[in-house]
Amino acid sequence: MMFFIPLVLFAASLAAAAPATSSPVDQTTHTFSNSSSPVYFNYGGGRVLANPEITPIWYNVTKELQDDLIKYYKAIVTSAWMDIFTEYNTPTQTIGKGSVLPAINYEGKIQRALDDFIDIREIIRQMVREGTINPNQNSYYAFHVSPYTNVTQYDLTICYSGLGAYHGCAYSADISTLDCVPYGVIASCYFDDNPNTADSVAHGASHEFAESVTDADPGTGWVATIDGAGGIELADYCGGPNIPQDNAYGFVTDPSNQKWAVSGLWSGADQRCVVGKPKNPITRKPTTPKKDTVNAKINYGSPLQSIEITPIFYGPNVTYSSEMADTTILSPHQVTWTSWQNILLRQWGGESPYHLDLSPRL
Ligand SMILES: *[C@@H]1O[C@H](CO)[C@@H](O)[C@H](O)[C@H]1NC(C)=O
Ligand SMILES: *[C@@H]1O[C@H](CO)[C@@H](O)[C@H](O)[C@H]1NC(C)=O
Ligand SMILES: *[C@@H]1O[C@H](CO)[C@@H](O)[C@H](O)[C@H]1NC(C)=O
Ligand SMILES: *[C@@H]1O[C@H](CO)[C@@H](O)[C@H](O)[C@H]1NC(C)=O
Repeated sequence: MMFFIPLVLFAASLAAAAPATSSPVDQTTHTFSNSSSPVYFNYGGGRVLANPEITPIWYNVTKELQDDLIKYYKAIVTSAWMDIFTEYNTPTQTIGKGSVLPAINYEGKIQRALDDFIDIREIIRQMVREGTINPNQNSYYAFHVSPYTNVTQYDLTICYSGLGAYHGCAYSADISTLDCVPYGVIASCYFDDNPNTADSVAHGASHEFAESVTDADPGTGWVATIDGAGGIELADYCGGPNIPQDNAYGFVTDPSNQKWAVSGLWSGADQRCVVGKPKNPITRKPTTPKKDTVNAKINYGSPLQSIEITPIFYGPNVTYSSEMADTTILSPHQVTWTSWQNILLRQWGGESPYHLDLSPRL
């Protein structure tokens, strides 16, 4: 889900900037004021990133920040912070440590504003098409943006509306073997104290990474409904309004003794946010939810055996391929339509309408 800038973010930044002071890890038992305790996350059957591979994508961020973030990601993917993920294995996937792949510098024109649906997903899709990136089942793309570009997701602008960072999955079933490509968007803000250090974005960067590991395609992996709010992911429950703040963040120490701030992550076993392995045994075992079989019945008439589609594109620059691929229009989970789109693409460049047989699927 989205990462809203919590007040502790600033506390985390300050504390981490002074490595001599260790993290104020609260070990007391947390009692929720509301009746939602105990809180467990449930597995929805979707993909997790078993041995996550982080590829940072730089969108006009300084060399200084790039270097620091590489160190940051290398420190966290092999750290004990990752040990919480043993609680979020699935019946078919075991989450282990991760790795950091060479970063990619965005080479296109740098814009002053990027919209998630219009621009960022399309940049990722374009990188897949061009072969700049070749995502696999473990890939996670950390898209880091300079303070000189505003990023909006829906009607929220990162840094200016409480939104600190978010993650998503860019539809790619039509152009790769993956349904979608998991990515996080982490922008630096003008008001960061140290905008060119990983510390300035550490909380958001680790938050989105952790949630991509456990819920690669948001809403399909490990999520919870808490106090009526659905789609809560495990870092969401460790910081933010009305949710537990203890261990909302912590630190990991790399081999050179440098401390790096990380988001706390929810442990169902401990019923608290933790940095590292839960203290209590993990007793709950996830099951893969049964898929519903829906049988449709024709009331009258007869189903179409073949459908002739003749798209009419108005104007020279119809960006229909990404729009049609947009999962908000037609989810790939509902219909397998890769072939449909490929045919449409051919149709666009070709002369005659084609015949499409959808009947076996619909
Ligand atoms: C980003 O948005 C804020 C708030 O609307 C505005 O003040 C700022 O100038 C914008 N920055 C850029 C680079 O457009
Ligand atoms: C890229 O970042 C630099 C600072 O590192 C800034 O001066 C420049 O305006 C940015 N470019 C664009 C197009 O936003
Ligand atoms: C917790 O309960 C209080 C009082 O009933 C309510 O005002 C508040 O919104 C609740 N918090 C959440 C997260 O539901
Ligand atoms: C179509 O796209 C090209 C290249 O981006 C641009 O130069 C041209 O102005 C666009 N035409 C219209 C009508 O938008």
